[in-house]
Amino acid sequence: MATVSTSNRLASVPTTEPAILVVDDLVMRFVTADGGVTALDHVSFGVKPGEFLAVIGPSGCGKSTLFNIVGGLLGGYAGAVTVGGETISGPHASIGMVFQEESTFPWRNVLDNVGFPLEISGVPKRERIERARHFISMVGLDGFEKRYPSELSGGMRQRVSMARTLASEPKILLMDEPFAALDEQTRLLLGDKVLQIQQQLEQTTLLITHNITEAVQLADRILVMTYRPGRVKRIVDINLPRPRTSEIVSSEPFGRYVAQIWNDLREEASRGLSDAETRPLRTHDKPQGQP
Ligand SMILES: Nc1ncnc2c1ncn2[C@@H]1O[C@H](COP(=O)(O)OP(=O)(O)OP(=O)(O)O)[C@@H](O)[C@H]1O
Ligand SMILES: [Mg+2]
Repeated sequence: MATVSTSNRLASVPTTEPAILVVDDLVMRFVTADGGVTALDHVSFGVKPGEFLAVIGPSGCGKSTLFNIVGGLLGGYAGAVTVGGETISGPHASIGMVFQEESTFPWRNVLDNVGFPLEISGVPKRERIERARHFISMVGLDGFEKRYPSELSGGMRQRVSMARTLASEPKILLMDEPFAALDEQTRLLLGDKVLQIQQQLEQTTLLITHNITEAVQLADRILVMTYRPGRVKRIVDINLPRPRTSEIVSSEPFGRYVAQIWNDLREEASRGLSDAETRPLRTHDKPQGQP
C-alpha cells in the first residue's frame, strides 16, 4: 500500500527540459508482517530523450522497486510516471527491461529467443528473422544464431537477453544490474557494447548498478539514492567526452568522478551496514526463549 503526501517533495524535472520520462513524487510502501517498509520516499527526476542515467545506491534502497514501477510491473504507489506525457498504468510498449539474471528461454535457440517479441507482435517470419539477426549482430553474437542458451557462456546469454529486449525497439531501456553476475573484464567489455548500442540507437537508457566505475563509464548523469527509505540524494552530471570506451577508466578526471560518487555513497553504505549490525539487538529479532 502506498502513502500519499505532497510534503518533503524533492526538486522535480526542470520545466525547460523536454523529458521523455518523468518520475513525479513516487512513494512506495510495502506492508509486511512486522509493520512495513518505505521503499521509495518522494522520488522525482526526469530523463531526456537519448540520455543515459545510472542509478546507484546501497542494497535495499529501492532501486529495483523504482524500475519495476517505471516498467509497469508494480502498482500500489503514490505519485506518477509519465512517458512522453502519458501516465503509465502497466507495462508499456515504449519501455523494455533487462534484468540481473539473464532470462533466455532454454528451449529456443538464439534466433528464436531474440525474435520472440516480434513473434508475439505478429511480425511476419522473414522480417522477424532479418530483424532478429540485426540485433544478434549488434550484441556481437554473429554465428551463434542456432545455439541454445545452455551452449553459451553467462555473458553471452545476458547479451541474448539484451538483444531480445532491443528487438522490441523500446524507446526507453531499463537495465537492473545486467552485469552483476559477470567477471570484471566481461563487465567492462559488455559496458562498451551497451554504450555503442545506446549511442547507435540513441536510446534513452536507465541502468541500475552497484559499480561506481561502470556508472561513471556509461552515464550522462548518475542518480545517487539514499539508504532506506530510498530518496534522491544527488544527481551528478558526468562531463566526460564521448565516445567513451573502457580505456577512459584510467584517466584522471574519471578518477575524480569515482571519488566524488564514492563520497556520496560511503555515508549511505555505512548507514546500511550499521543497520545490519544492530539488527540482532532489536526485540523482534531476538532468538526465541531469550529475555
Ligand atoms: N514485494 C515486496 N514486499 C515487501 N517488501 C519489499 C518487496 N520488494 C521490495 N521490498 C523491500 O523494499 C526495499 C527496497 O527493495 P529493492 O529490491 O527495491 O532494493 P534494491 O535497491 O533493488 O536492492 P539491491 O541493490 O539489493 O537489489 C527493501 O527493504 C525490500 O525489503
Ligand atoms: Mg535490486
